[in-house]
Amino acid sequence: MAKMWAGRFKKEENKEVNDFNSSISFDSRMYKNDILGSIAHATMLGNQNIIEQKDSELIIKTLSEILEDIDNGNLEFSNDAEDIHMFIEGELTKRIGDIGKKLHTARSRNDQVALDIRLYLKEEVETIKSLICKLLNEIINLAEENKYTIMPGYTHLQRAQPITFANHLLAYAYMLKRDLNRFDDALNRMNYSPLGSCALAGTTYPIDRDFVAERLNFKGIVKNSLDGVSDRDFCCEIASAASILMMHLSRFSEEIILWSSWEFKFIELDDAYSTGSSIMPQKKNPDICELIRGKTGRVYGDLNTLLVMLKGLPLAYNKDMQEDKEAIFDALDTVKMCLSIFTPMLKTMKINKDNMRKAAAKGFINATDLADYLVKKGMPFRDAYKISGSIVAYSIDNDLVLEEIKLDKYKEYSQLFENDLYDAIDLEKATFRRTSKGASGIESVEAQINDLRS
Ligand code: ARG
Repeated sequence: MAKMWAGRFKKEENKEVNDFNSSISFDSRMYKNDILGSIAHATMLGNQNIIEQKDSELIIKTLSEILEDIDNGNLEFSNDAEDIHMFIEGELTKRIGDIGKKLHTARSRNDQVALDIRLYLKEEVETIKSLICKLLNEIINLAEENKYTIMPGYTHLQRAQPITFANHLLAYAYMLKRDLNRFDDALNRMNYSPLGSCALAGTTYPIDRDFVAERLNFKGIVKNSLDGVSDRDFCCEIASAASILMMHLSRFSEEIILWSSWEFKFIELDDAYSTGSSIMPQKKNPDICELIRGKTGRVYGDLNTLLVMLKGLPLAYNKDMQEDKEAIFDALDTVKMCLSIFTPMLKTMKINKDNMRKAAAKGFINATDLADYLVKKGMPFRDAYKISGSIVAYSIDNDLVLEEIKLDKYKEYSQLFENDLYDAIDLEKATFRRTSKGASGIESVEAQINDLRS
């Protein structure tokens, strides 16, 4: 097929070069954005009398028909086309001849692709935002149901202090809330139209960039024509927001993997959201979580692809930039897939509250409370810490928990111990006594839930 740029060339393009150059296999997904961008552009060309009004109308009508045909499966993309932009324009010209050739007046594929990808990403990010909201809602509901579920809190994966499952879950809710903000931020900075930057230098035609921007629901126009065609910051920002989101999902997944092991048994995944082994009949594997953890690396890779692709590029457009699409598309496809499966998995998982409580009983997670007890009776914290440590060592040697040691024994370590020490180290009381803002106490957890819901 003769290329649109055939005029300057004496030979036809080598077939392998065409295949190497072609991006239609992955940029065809932007067909709708490309057509809507072209319709706005053609409308503007007509309004400004850059092309005749009746030509503009015919172009718009035909573009709408092409859109409908693609939507209905009546028009297939041709792999001969170099990219989606060439394909649509070629199809337009096939249908209306010379008039179709007027569409590309005062435009270049450089600003066209910069426009299309922004339009495409605007929609994708909105979808991702709503998926994050769904997950957030699920986590908050789960927290609501587990305000009284006591579990051991960990540091270094060693039992540390008593917390509620609700407070643990809400930590993830706040991470996701920040993720939502990051996507919103990226969206806001990206929301300017590059169309009219043309190849790089703007144009001598009396175009109206603001009109096109408004038509396509942008907040305004990109103010510098070279920046308009060269900037892919927004891809990096969105891939970065996607990477951080995946990092959060991955940490959550890692915990679910641990919690569903026989060693923990804090939760049980629903059969529909786990898999069996081909050889070991007893197995129930948390594959979804493992895959999310695995795919996180892939999204990081996409971000890295973008950053490295851009770092050496002189202004303005370079073909390297065609590589932006597979990376950002893959990152967002992956994020969408992970969010879509993670939420129902969470919704259907069973919480073994008893096992959490049993785990909390072992591991001396009330040892800090024992030290705090002595501090409240007047002992300096460092001394109290040392005494409590010795009592823990004694308990380990004698296979006891702190609650089982008799007061007489406590008194051997400090005369400050009285009968009320048992109240201080009572797990329930110790958990809900943590009333500082952000802690597991009921008021704090409810405040967090209200904050997140609003
Ligand atoms: N397929 C190209 C891309 O994705 C479109 C822009 C091509 N521009 C050019 N001057 N070759 O970047």
